[in-house]
Amino acid sequence: MDHTTSPAEYLAPSALPAQPALPDPLVTFGGGDVETVTDWKQHRRPEIRRAFEHYVYGYAPARPSIDIETKQTTTVLDGRATLTERTIHIAELPADAPSIDLAVFTPATRDTAPVFLGLNNTGNHGVIDDSAVTITDTAAESGLEDRGVASEYWCLEQLIDRGYGLATFHPADIDPDRDDPTDGIRQYYDDLPVPSVAHWGTIATWAWGLQRGVDALSEDRTVETDGIAVIGHSRLGKAALLAGALDERIDLVVPHQSGTGGVTPARDNDQETIAAITEAFPHWFNDVFPAFGGRPERLPVDQHLLVSLVAPRPLMDTEGARDYWTNPGRALDSVRAADPVYELHGETGIVNDGLRSGDDAITPETVGRLLQYRRETAHTLNRGYWDAILDFADIHLS
Ligand code: GCU
Repeated sequence: MDHTTSPAEYLAPSALPAQPALPDPLVTFGGGDVETVTDWKQHRRPEIRRAFEHYVYGYAPARPSIDIETKQTTTVLDGRATLTERTIHIAELPADAPSIDLAVFTPATRDTAPVFLGLNNTGNHGVIDDSAVTITDTAAESGLEDRGVASEYWCLEQLIDRGYGLATFHPADIDPDRDDPTDGIRQYYDDLPVPSVAHWGTIATWAWGLQRGVDALSEDRTVETDGIAVIGHSRLGKAALLAGALDERIDLVVPHQSGTGGVTPARDNDQETIAAITEAFPHWFNDVFPAFGGRPERLPVDQHLLVSLVAPRPLMDTEGARDYWTNPGRALDSVRAADPVYELHGETGIVNDGLRSGDDAITPETVGRLLQYRRETAHTLNRGYWDAILDFADIHLS
């Protein structure tokens, strides 16, 4: 099987060989060994990427030009943070096409700061209770009116106090979370040069939107060079991981409780299966992926290979020990299975068993570039996670 050919020549899922174990990141689809970073960059990385696009998430359009419109700059948190609101327009699309309303909060005391970029599901004004934050059209249309409802989730004060910024937008800016390819940005790209079954699903669309956020942050002089982290929770964590895998401008990736379609492999996953996720959320993936329901062993890839595309950049997989549906134990296998790609790059991925929990110290001595971190929680994000995430970021972004 060779995945270096054009998408039209890819094999149908039913014709693919069964491979019960997680595929080796350092063996090509054609059976060749990946022995050098050059082999990885020139052959293996691109073929893994294409296989995810073809079989799982779908192909997204090429990087477009963007126009950035600054709407306001003001201060919040008693002057400790600067809020800049920008609208990102996709230059090649008509004026009434979707655009991204990005809110960027940065520490007022610093000229530049590393920034976490993440999709929110409460509207930008859910991040802090402050009337300065605009309730965007998308948020209003989605019925999201409450300010600060997610303040204990984003912990903005804590980020600012530790010298980090936060950039965020609502996923419906780019694609509403519904099984309808015509209500977001995808309707403007129905001429993608690949079979329609392999067109992008909603997760790929959100990831593409995050990449447009990266476009904007890369031009923002208040964002530290090499200081862009991407975070996302659950379905938005799947998108964060995909963006981090595809876009090497992202310096740190934090998929939080991302589960199936995120860090957790499809193989040997007794929680959310491919059949279950594609039945419940058919729009998240492309139209090839459902055919792997009941036969995950025929997938040429699995999620550890998406993690491995992040290499050698740092990745922290944060999980809730009681968040059973995401299958943290199986996610840990995925993180560990990506380690050989870090090693190939001469970087330390896994240190010890690659797992830290609760109040375990996260220091340069105890963690490498690949980590799973667990807390005793169900499906949520809170201050305890941020303490650990910022410790990890302190090691890798400074
Ligand atoms: C559902 C879905 C998960 C997803 C989660 C979420 O539980 O099955 O795959 O991660 O929603 O986004 O909260």
